[in-house]
Amino acid sequence: MSRPEPPPVLPEGVDPAWLPPEVFRPLGRRRTLVRGHGPLVDTAHGEVAAACARFGGEVVRDARAAAPYDLVLDVTDAPDLGDEGFTCVRRDGTTTVTAAGGRGLLYGLFHVVRLGEDAFGSERPLETHRPAVALRALDHWDNVAVHPVMGQVERGYAGGSLFWRDGEARGETERVRAYGRLLAACGINAVTVNNVNVHATEARLLTDRIGEVAALADALRPYGIRTHLSVTFAAPVVLGGLPTADPLDEGVRRWWAATAARVYEVIGDFGGFVVKADSEGQPGPFTYGRTHADGANMLAAALAPHGGTVRWRAFVYNHRQDWRDRSTDRARAAYDHFAPLDGEFAENAVLQVKHGPVDFQAREPVSPVLGALPRTRLALEVQATQEYTGQQRHVCWLGPMWSEVLRFRPDGEDGGPGVGDLAGGLVAVSNVGDDPFWTGHPLAQANLYTVGRLGWRPDTDPHDLLDEWIRLTFPAGASADPGRLREGLRAVLHGSWRTYEKYTAPLGVGFMVQPGHHYGPSVDGYEYSPWGTYHFADRDGIGVDRTAATGTGYAAQYAKPWAELYESVRTCPDELLLFFHHVPYGHVLHSGTTVIQHIYDTHFAGVAEVEEARRVWDSLADLVAPARHERVAERYEEQLRCAREWRDQINSYFFRKSGVPDARGRHIH
Ligand code: GCU
Repeated sequence: MSRPEPPPVLPEGVDPAWLPPEVFRPLGRRRTLVRGHGPLVDTAHGEVAAACARFGGEVVRDARAAAPYDLVLDVTDAPDLGDEGFTCVRRDGTTTVTAAGGRGLLYGLFHVVRLGEDAFGSERPLETHRPAVALRALDHWDNVAVHPVMGQVERGYAGGSLFWRDGEARGETERVRAYGRLLAACGINAVTVNNVNVHATEARLLTDRIGEVAALADALRPYGIRTHLSVTFAAPVVLGGLPTADPLDEGVRRWWAATAARVYEVIGDFGGFVVKADSEGQPGPFTYGRTHADGANMLAAALAPHGGTVRWRAFVYNHRQDWRDRSTDRARAAYDHFAPLDGEFAENAVLQVKHGPVDFQAREPVSPVLGALPRTRLALEVQATQEYTGQQRHVCWLGPMWSEVLRFRPDGEDGGPGVGDLAGGLVAVSNVGDDPFWTGHPLAQANLYTVGRLGWRPDTDPHDLLDEWIRLTFPAGASADPGRLREGLRAVLHGSWRTYEKYTAPLGVGFMVQPGHHYGPSVDGYEYSPWGTYHFADRDGIGVDRTAATGTGYAAQYAKPWAELYESVRTCPDELLLFFHHVPYGHVLHSGTTVIQHIYDTHFAGVAEVEEARRVWDSLADLVAPARHERVAERYEEQLRCAREWRDQINSYFFRKSGVPDARGRHIH
């Protein structure tokens, strides 16, 4: 029987993020007809019913007569819309959302919520919406048990896990449901519930603890979210007691097939596996002399009968490198491992590729892997959790960076599709925890929102998405001066990624962070380490020669237009100069300043921009709820302290190395 599924009740004190009750007012004041069957239609019905209960409107289910309704949410036979697409039109006083199924209907409903009063104003021409990217996932690096080094959530900056605590499932279904609702409202359709580094306790989620995963899947399903699981490649040995995990061994293949079948018995719509193999100490097919295609295909075969997908990560490199060895280049590794395997992966295997060749730095070139495997399904992986971008203590809205990656055309600026068209998946490492603001820093919610929406339209101007987030999160009716508030939020968020880039590692060189936790500056922190992340600064110059002519050859991993552009110091873009070239401090950039002067200037400017952002935030105190304002204000203090530390360490280091004074005579320590 069709009945409304009421929306989750937020636990006391938890922030409604971009779904405060106020945004449902336009919908809740009207007469709505909901037509169609299935659990997700029940969810949509429940949303409208709750809005009407609050704001005085009325909702009817499955009425035959097309009496005058303000809004009709209709599931009909419209195969060209796919499972998730919908149309929206306003004619003769009625707004109609049509979808082929419950998922599309739910996305259509949230579209109406985003439109607000505009959904019910003048006529609107028919618009068709379909997500450009099919898989829009959040990977939670959540541990079930607290890891002695990484804690409950690896690289987590928002408290504990929403799913697990101290080795147990938290069982907080309502909160997980509320999370699913937020994700659906920004367009995400998949969640991986455990860390890619699969430790012993977490491994068992695949077998005897699968019931706990099923409970999470049950909570997320009403909002159209499929659950995925990270698995260890060694599972047949560590869980199944087999002597080997060799992907070509018959016993191993049977074990995976049977294990996958059992997963699907309890989670019928299970999404699939995520695998980090032969990477940073995780087991993988190399142990058995097999390729990564062999490994991925074995898991793909186990999942195929059930419609599941294996996401196989391309993050494979030697993390035990000898820093004296100048021939090994970590940036080359993913391409070197995976490009030769193009065409060998199964239909339901997806290669998940980090956006840059190294590791989520604030500035990296786009990974050449994304353009090198035309016969392989690809997913782009970005990091919403701000491991290298201020750990949710700094404001760093990453929309513009992700947008640059998604718009990058691997075949050259004038030709071929962009990454957003090539990738069938957009995966973000989640920045969410059990923090009342979800993301620790309340403004980091904007990253989560943006990444989901970019999955629908990778070519959208991210600033429009930021405005959307602002409109929803801070509804006009709830503020004394919505214009000033909106301007202030824009001012502190728009340029925050570039600001962060300015006061941290210069010109794309990356990795000047403190080893281990990766917060704050340590110029030489990774310079003599086995992790392969060097800058090679000496008294004369800085940067990594990655050219084909004299360097590691990394630049040649790109198609010709990019390879040529990056190869030449004359054409390489300033912001990536030190990623591709080792240059003297006196080298003159396209901008007209020298490298050393650029370092000084950007570091002074970056700190000044944080000071200004903090001032703007302070000026909004009368317009933002006290708890939120205070939380952000506190974090600005820390951001400013840390930015000054970056500025002074970086500037002093390069002044001491180079002996070149600041042309503007500012104080350098
Ligand atoms: C980074 C991060 C690790 C993480 C790894 C990965 O190296 O520091 O914590 O496990 O990325 O993406 O697998």
